[in-house]
Amino acid sequence: MEINKIEIKKCDEYDIENIFIIEVNCFDDPWTMSMLLEEFKIDGSLFFKCLVNNIIAGYIIARVVFDEVDIINIAISEKFRKLGLGGKLIEAVIKATKNAKIYSLEVRETNYSAIKLYEKYDFERIGVRKNYYTNPKEDGLIMIRRN
Ligand SMILES: CC(C)(COP(=O)(O)OP(=O)(O)OC[C@H]1O[C@@H](n2cnc3c(N)ncnc32)[C@H](O)[C@@H]1OP(=O)(O)O)[C@@H](O)C(=O)NCCC(=O)NCCS
Repeated sequence: MEINKIEIKKCDEYDIENIFIIEVNCFDDPWTMSMLLEEFKIDGSLFFKCLVNNIIAGYIIARVVFDEVDIINIAISEKFRKLGLGGKLIEAVIKATKNAKIYSLEVRETNYSAIKLYEKYDFERIGVRKNYYTNPKEDGLIMIRRN
């Protein structure tokens, strides 16, 4: 596929069906449609999509509380991976939260591609949450990035 246009935009509720399809394809323990929809009601939620030639290729969800930002979900459709799109979504969150002091996230300890992505954006491992994930059961790495 020839890529002519890449855009990062705010998500709206009309995007949720497409986002849900990516979510279930990317995770063994996916968010439900209603969890995704609830996100629009949460104060401090940032929900961006990445469009490739007007098609939703991925999304990121972060929550801002005072000067802390928690990245709680990020996914790129398999066919659009390794094109820098995950990075563009992280950059969009960082740009939208210029006053933030700290960014945090959890990641499965064997999710090497995600860990690499976060390290590229200066996240560092600061701890482990034992059995944080289910299906399959796995420890979660806690990573933070200071601004
Ligand atoms: C993790 C994920 C979002 C990365 O998205 P992406 O668009 O492919 O990432 P990018 O192309 O922006 O890659 C940025 C960096 O991440 C690293 N990276 C990404 N995919 C990688 C892979 N398969 N192997 C090794 N490094 C990888 C590289 O360092 C890359 O930088 P480089 O291209 O300069 O080497 C994507 O793989 C995904 O959606 N995975 C399934 C869902 C998921 O696991 N989400 C994270 C939950 S915590």
